[in-house]
This record gives sequence, C-alpha cells and structure tokens, in this order.
Amino acid sequence: MILTGKAKLAGVLGWPVGHSRSPRLHGFWLQQHGIDGAYLPLAVKPEDFEAVIRALPRMGFRGANVTVPHKEAALALADHVDPLARRIGAVNTLVVRDDGSLEGRNTDAFGFIENLRQGCPGFSAARGPAVVLGAGGAARAVVAALQDDGCPEIRLLNRSRERAEALKADLETVVMPGGNITVLPWDSRAAALNDAALLVNTTSLGMTGQPPLEISLAALPTDALVTDIVYAPLLTDLLRAAQSRGNPIVDGLGMLLHQARPGFEAWFGVSPKVTDELRTFVGEL
Ligand code: ATR
Repeated sequence: MILTGKAKLAGVLGWPVGHSRSPRLHGFWLQQHGIDGAYLPLAVKPEDFEAVIRALPRMGFRGANVTVPHKEAALALADHVDPLARRIGAVNTLVVRDDGSLEGRNTDAFGFIENLRQGCPGFSAARGPAVVLGAGGAARAVVAALQDDGCPEIRLLNRSRERAEALKADLETVVMPGGNITVLPWDSRAAALNDAALLVNTTSLGMTGQPPLEISLAALPTDALVTDIVYAPLLTDLLRAAQSRGNPIVDGLGMLLHQARPGFEAWFGVSPKVTDELRTFVGEL
C-alpha cells in the first residue's frame, strides 16, 4: 500500500503486540476500501504508555486500539470515557477528537453481541438465563453486553469466586433492568446449565496450550446457544461437544472482528463489514 502525506493513521498499543491480529484485520479493510491510511502494531511498555498516548494526537494519529496490559491504564488516562467503558472498567479504543483530546471507548461488548447476532440470526439475550464461565476482563464486557441486551438472569461462575463477586459488585452498582447476576461455585457448572438459553466461555481454558475446559453439557437444553471467547483453535472442544449434541454454536473469532468495526469507522470514516472472506483471512494466521 502506497501512502500519501495525508494518510490517516491508527494502530494497536500492546506489550507484547506481536501476537495481535488487529493490524491484519484493519489492513484488510483499508485495502478493501482503498483508503489512504495505515494501522500499525505499536509495542509499548507499560512505563511508556502514558507518554505514547499523549503523543498520539501530536503525531497526527486518529486514534488506536489498546490491548493487554494497557486497557485499565487507558481508562484512567483518557480525557473522556464513555459510560460503557467505565462500567466495564477498561478502554480498548481511543479516538482523537478534533480538539486533540482522547476519547476512550470499549467496543468488546458490542463485538460480543454483534457476533452472536451474525452467527445466530434473531439472537436476543432476553430469551433466557445465561451462564458465563470466567470473571476476567473479557467476562466484564460479556456481562455488560448481556445486561444491555435484556438478559433476565446471568449465572456467573469463576475458579476464584472473589473475582466473580467483584465483577457482580461493579456491574450491579449501575441499576439497570435485567442486571441480575448470581454468583455460583465453579464446581456447580454442570448443574448451572439447567434451563439456560446461552453458555459463554470467557476463560482461557480450551485455548491452544492451556488446560481443557471440563464441563458436562448434559443439563443444557439442546436449543441453547453455546459460544466461546477462545478462537485458537476456532472449534474448541466446548463448541465441538455442543455441536455434536445439536446445540447451535458461534465461535470466538467474530467477536474480535466485530469489536474492531467502531474504531475503524471513527478513524477512517468507513463502516466496514465482517464477511466470510475476512474471517478466513484473519482466522488463517
Ligand atoms: P481475559 O482478560 O481474557 O478475561 P484474564 O483476566 O486473565 O483474561 O481472565 C482469565 C479467566 O480464565 C479468569 O476467569 C480465570 O479464572 P481466575 O479468575 O480464577 O484466575 C480463568 N482461568 C484461567 N486459567 C484457569 C484454570 N486453570 N481453571 C479455571 N479458570 C481459569
């Protein structure tokens, strides 16, 4: 891609950043739309993060994505933070405003719900209880998304129960309809599936190189949707087991693709689409 002097610039800030698929993802869209712009991997150490994000507007950047380990720092440092990012407790997208100030957003909840809507047309979290495994950063975005989509009951299970209790306390400080979160013991995960309409794995279990996620799906209704945040491998053991008993499944790659849409639109001025071609291109890494 040949750039002009007017090229629009964005990137992803992480440490390390070499594993990030975002440059490939945004690069695909830039090329597809013939945009005079670039999206760069920016390896930034935690101690340099503040200086780097303050420099972004001064260097003419339109903004950036923020990934591990900077998402909480981005929340603390952004000049304006949208209410959803504050509720989730993390910023994954920075947008430089016309006055040079930094706006912090979180697009992970959007990415989660949009992925389910694309993979399972007509999906609504209002359909019934959801079981969420895990209480890390990803779980916060997933729970917020389910609350906002009208989920009547969220059953939250995490190996360290305190972390699940903390998530519940943080996300229930905002009073909203359908925000009822019940924390259950990690060992009760098979029983928690009774009557559920949705099962989400937000833990790292089942990822290549990580231990397997052990769970019996026997109590899960066969029409419940099963989804995994893990996308390496694309078809996790959880998704495979769900599929073999007839449950609809949605893999985790789409969440990564959909969460990227609002940032791309804000920086480059085009609303991009998540297509099968994009899935193959980003998924084949
Ligand atoms: P992310 O931001 O991707 O959510 P994270 O904050 O490190 O990453 O969270 C990882 C999640 O996987 C947590 O819910 C973690 O459980 P703990 O809070 O108890 O650590 C879960 N996890 C990781 N390894 C696990 C294991 N061996 N057994 C059960 N849960 C595990």
